[in-house]
Amino acid sequence: MNILMVASESLPFVKTGGLADVVFSLSKELLHHHRVLIVLPMYESISKTNASFSFLGSSDVYLSWRKQTASFYYVEESGIHYYFVANDYYFKRDRAYGYTDDGERFAFFTLAIRHLIKLINMSLDIIHIHDWQAGMLPALIQEQERDHPLFEYTKFVFTIHNPAFQGWLDKAYLSDFYNLPNALYDSGKVRFHDGISTLKSAIVYSDKITTVSPTHAKELLTEEGGYGLHHVLRYVEDDFSGILNGIDDAWSPDIDPLIHHTFKQADHQEGKRKNKTFLFEQFKLTDRNRPLFGLVSRLTWQKGIDLVLANIAWLIEQGATVVILGSGEASLEHELRHIADRFPQHCLFYYGYAESLAHQIYASSDFFLMPSLFEPCGISQMISLRYGTIPIVRKTGGLVDTIIPWQPRNPNLDSATGMMFETYSSHAFQEVLKEALALYAQPKIKHALIKNGFKQHHGWQVSAKHYDELYRSLSMNKNAKI
Ligand code: ADP
Ligand code: GLC
Repeated sequence: MNILMVASESLPFVKTGGLADVVFSLSKELLHHHRVLIVLPMYESISKTNASFSFLGSSDVYLSWRKQTASFYYVEESGIHYYFVANDYYFKRDRAYGYTDDGERFAFFTLAIRHLIKLINMSLDIIHIHDWQAGMLPALIQEQERDHPLFEYTKFVFTIHNPAFQGWLDKAYLSDFYNLPNALYDSGKVRFHDGISTLKSAIVYSDKITTVSPTHAKELLTEEGGYGLHHVLRYVEDDFSGILNGIDDAWSPDIDPLIHHTFKQADHQEGKRKNKTFLFEQFKLTDRNRPLFGLVSRLTWQKGIDLVLANIAWLIEQGATVVILGSGEASLEHELRHIADRFPQHCLFYYGYAESLAHQIYASSDFFLMPSLFEPCGISQMISLRYGTIPIVRKTGGLVDTIIPWQPRNPNLDSATGMMFETYSSHAFQEVLKEALALYAQPKIKHALIKNGFKQHHGWQVSAKHYDELYRSLSMNKNAKI
């Protein structure tokens, strides 16, 4: 099959979070059976890389009265066909997102993809869209291109990675950006909270909808966990499922070129000790016998950073060292800086996005903090398991599907891989941190958990097979809905 992945980020070109890992690794795995194309915006950071892009052509793209030119580029990388939509006005900026005109930027991206498909003149079996950014593409094609031969057999799969970002716009933008009639708003197909939502539209117009873990799929169908999407998801429930993400085989401490000291499972104690020593020396942290709690994350309300802030001084005073890497909301950054200044020998806050330091933190830490408010899947806890780092997670979403919690009152030494708390409160989080400190003093139990973690595979083979089956079910069903 010809499969086009449409996303706002993918490795190896641009990454702000797990979406980039997933789009790349899933595509790579699908290559065993399919031709896979990925289309991305040509952000400035991508145009500056030394990849040798070929120029394919350009098209005028109209957002009602605005005319903008989309230039299309191509490069093959790891067997995947990457296509890029370039436009300096929209994409020649420092960051990928976070601009007040993101709605317009990604409307342009969405409209340009239609031109790109016609330019490369390829009939696509599956268009697999990720998150809100190009969520309007199925509506555009289903409403305006039904008779075009290139789209005759095209089916749409839509994956929700983050339900909190819904691509909400005032209803005027349905015609103003997307050149679509108000009737789609009136009929309710794209309407959401008195405006339009590209995310909702993708749910309505796609043939199959997935999210990135079975537990999150259940959560999304509830009022409490559905971020307002539960009604529409219940409506399409038969076509909605959760497929757990995997992680790339490159996340492996025995071959990882970005860590100071590679190690195999058999010598993980020695390996982790060397990495921890290196990290402590690099950042002038003292007393490497202290338990090390690592955190690598976007700093947003989703990730439970407020629970970390509520407990971090206490944790350090109990004898721990905390290393945090991330960027995001200014108030969280500010408070983390303040704590790091207060405990310079036992706390590091490294602001920014830093691939190598992230790897070094996974390899060096004793525990990894992930007290997320919600977590559709989560990649970091799975990486931690591979690097002999015990994840401390909240009982939500994909964290439930990937971590088997240690039960000190009913010891499950043969199966536990991490530590889990349920109630989203700083008290509940502190209780589990106390258990972690106790565990650090009991090396036998600690190593049992680490060993159990090593046995979890979480490779992409299994997850990609589920997507493969989903695509195949659609291609056999030529008369599917809409
Ligand atoms: P999300 O996609 O919600 O941010 P995930 O756990 O799915 O969370 O994926 C996060 C990915 O991004 C992981 O691979 C993590 O290591 C990486 N990451 C997050 N923040 C940073 C950072 N500041 N520097 C380097 N890598 C980061
Ligand atoms: C989102 C989610 C995260 C998930 C990632 C990849 O960013 O927040 O839980 O792992 O997408 O699917």
